[in-house]
Amino acid sequence: MADVLPEDAAHGEPSPGGSEPSRAQPGARWRHFLDQARQQASAPQTTLDSGGTLTRLTGLVLEAAGIRASVGSQCLITQPGQSPVLAEVVGFAGDRAYLMPAGDVQGLSSGATVMPTAPYVPPLRLGADWTGTAEGAAVRPAASPSHLMASGQLRLPLGEGLLGRVVDAQGQPMDHRGPLSNVVSRPLDRSPLNAMDRAPVREPLDTGVRSINALLTVGRGQRLGLFAGAGVGKSVLLGMMARYTEAEIIVVGLVGERGREVKEFIEDILGEEGRRRSVVVAAPADAPPLLRLQAAGYATGVAEYFRDQGKHVLLLMDSLTRYAMAQREIALAVGEPPATKGYPPSCFAKLPQLVERSGNGLNGVGSITAFYTVLAEGDDQQDPIADAARAILDGHIVLTRALAEAGHYPAIDIAQSASRVMHNVVSKEHFELARQFRGISSRYERGRDLIQIGAYVPGADPGLDESIRLHEPMMAFLQQDMYQGVTLSESLAGMAVVVQREPNPQPARPNAAQAQRPIQPGVQSQAGRGQGVAA
Ligand SMILES: Nc1ncnc2c1ncn2[C@@H]1O[C@H](COP(=O)(O)OP(=O)(O)OP(=O)(O)O)[C@@H](O)[C@H]1O
Ligand SMILES: [Mg+2]
Repeated sequence: MADVLPEDAAHGEPSPGGSEPSRAQPGARWRHFLDQARQQASAPQTTLDSGGTLTRLTGLVLEAAGIRASVGSQCLITQPGQSPVLAEVVGFAGDRAYLMPAGDVQGLSSGATVMPTAPYVPPLRLGADWTGTAEGAAVRPAASPSHLMASGQLRLPLGEGLLGRVVDAQGQPMDHRGPLSNVVSRPLDRSPLNAMDRAPVREPLDTGVRSINALLTVGRGQRLGLFAGAGVGKSVLLGMMARYTEAEIIVVGLVGERGREVKEFIEDILGEEGRRRSVVVAAPADAPPLLRLQAAGYATGVAEYFRDQGKHVLLLMDSLTRYAMAQREIALAVGEPPATKGYPPSCFAKLPQLVERSGNGLNGVGSITAFYTVLAEGDDQQDPIADAARAILDGHIVLTRALAEAGHYPAIDIAQSASRVMHNVVSKEHFELARQFRGISSRYERGRDLIQIGAYVPGADPGLDESIRLHEPMMAFLQQDMYQGVTLSESLAGMAVVVQREPNPQPARPNAAQAQRPIQPGVQSQAGRGQGVAA
């Protein structure tokens, strides 16, 4: 039986849910198909096909009269002699719609036509969305056509074909490797997972960074922030994680950062091997704010796609602050009043909406472990975005300028950093060693001034004596070459040596139920891994 309509041409999309049903059930399959056709024909036509007019352009925001398009829908602005500009409806007042352009508005003038993009109508295909049983019972479409027809909704390419590719916020390839193949186009807006259906974070994840593995152990499905001022080493640390973390898929969102860094990240940091399992979504600093915002959502959408396939995904977002800044630009432009440090309230609402999309999948199938860089402006840890991010993330790794200036890389300040799931993912022995390490280090910090001015008399305080003796090896332990990876078990053994305990034969355990199983350190496919401790 031939398919009725051709496959979706956009992005070479196969029809949704394209699995072919059993040939033994032609009647049920036809009933399902006719059912869908009936629903599509009777769906109310909510979109207007008439165009509006561009009436105003102030700063970043466009104002259009005469269109009724819903917030979030896409419009095309056309004018003779100009290439069309795509814009998204971001607000309205009375009969005026406010739009943010996704391209260059140079040359647009009053009176240009603003047309909502055609609603997406999925082509009907016999057998598509089939969820019937082998007996032909329980025939029910996977998604109702009216849902798929949401007006002008943005749809972006998702699929295996993205692996190894660099795309912009609109899913267009940036890497001169030809058009995308083996992808489907899907709307980006998804309903969030029910919190009760999410698997808790229970398994440790080897990041390849010694100080993080030992003292700030990360769990699979955890969301962490890398907090630092400008130029302290956030991107380099993110790169180390991209190279050495055990993950099947890596999704990198480069949002609002320098254009130069996009190529560097791909060529120098990921390398050919890393690139094959990576997808890079980039919207550099010069991209319009709408695209910077969209890039973060798209990168998260790509990670969700692979997580739903059961994959363990590492999502690296550089940076969350630039995402918030893009939202600030848009919100202020459409007239939202600023609140803290010029950030309108919508910025603080957007952050958890983005971050909550990563994490473990439904009932433990697949995971997204995410690292977001957070720029603490002027090294201010009380920066409102840093503050908001710290509250919604499951851990924070703070990099300090003082350490970076002393050439101590990665410049992680252990005392200020915390992984909130560490106690769930490591053994008691590991947790205890880390506690001792922190204790000795903080003892030294408290006595630092006395030691430096020579006021401390050795022998007066045995605890401080120990911390002075261990200070050098501890600092050496915390430093690591950016082209060297250290496994979780090596990190733990190294920490045991530094605090002068015997190396632990059972380095860590994921949870109490697996207490007898020693940790299997990460897949060590990367060159340069496996160096011992520097102590
Ligand atoms: N592990 C490291 N080893 C040696 N040098 C490093 C390391 N990490 C960072 N650096 C140095 O610090 C510089 C700045 O690092 P990076 O670009 O990662 O900072 P950043 O925090 O991302 O900055 P920005 O906020 O401007 O994006 C690097 O160019 C490099 O010289
Ligand atoms: Mg950076």
